[in-house]
Amino acid sequence: MIRPASWGPELVWGRPFSICSADGKSLTLFIQKVGRGTSRIAELEKGDSVTVWGPLGNGFAVEPETPTLMLAGGIGIAPFRGYIEQHPTSENLKLFFAHRMPRACYSYDSMTATVRHQSMVEQNPDDLQAIIKEMGVLIEQYKDGLILCCGPTPFMRTARKFALEHGARLQVSLENHMGCGVGACLGCVCKNDKDKYVQVCTNGPVFWADKVEL
Ligand SMILES: Cc1cc2nc3c(=O)[nH]c(=O)nc-3n(C[C@H](O)[C@H](O)[C@H](O)COP(=O)(O)OP(=O)(O)OC[C@H]3O[C@@H](n4cnc5c(N)ncnc54)[C@H](O)[C@@H]3O)c2cc1C
Ligand code: FES
Repeated sequence: MIRPASWGPELVWGRPFSICSADGKSLTLFIQKVGRGTSRIAELEKGDSVTVWGPLGNGFAVEPETPTLMLAGGIGIAPFRGYIEQHPTSENLKLFFAHRMPRACYSYDSMTATVRHQSMVEQNPDDLQAIIKEMGVLIEQYKDGLILCCGPTPFMRTARKFALEHGARLQVSLENHMGCGVGACLGCVCKNDKDKYVQVCTNGPVFWADKVEL
């Protein structure tokens, strides 16, 4: 979670972002401007003070020997940079990236040196149908492996539909709105497969797709 000091009382809550990569000295995030908070973050200048708390919650499963398919929709590509960097056997990874804005707006090209990869742009309804079809093909190919998905909710729903059809193991990273990030405010809850509400910030954001409602 990050919250610039300059927000003052006007924007009370911090905003959650995936950690793209981190070392002892720096933290890299990819941030898409969608509203007030992210617009104000985009205006920050070098030297401005920002409160950061985390890492929070869990991450995607890492199974070094398992062929693993990463499905990224738009800015949902963010968590996969760190995933690829830290994975011990990146030759087992494939990244599928569906996007609307030009590919150069994302970090895609900096992430593909060590993994198999494929991207598809969506500019019209036919493109969307082609993306959905390709997701079906890929998910069937990886049905005995591990599939990870991060992107808009309809994108994750499509992935889940195919995963259920093919009996594939799929994890989704939910992007619910968040307040505290630590399980206290209940601002982020979703329903699990037992019809119970769970906090996405502390029980997720990554869930097995068949254990959570999307
Ligand atoms: C675990 C997690 C990881 C995330 N990682 C990233 C990341 O790496 N990069 C990134 O750019 N964004 C990421 N997001 C989404 C990001 O947190 C939101 O886009 C951000 O909080 C919006 O803040 P805002 O004040 O600009 O928008 P607001 O002014 O609060 O809202 C503006 C518009 O954006 C929509 N919106 C707000 N929050 C979300 C959300 N969580 N998901 C989808 N739409 C939203 C609102 O419905 C509204 O239409 C992540 C979210 C979560 C929960
Ligand atoms: S963000 Fe407050 S409980 Fe999850």
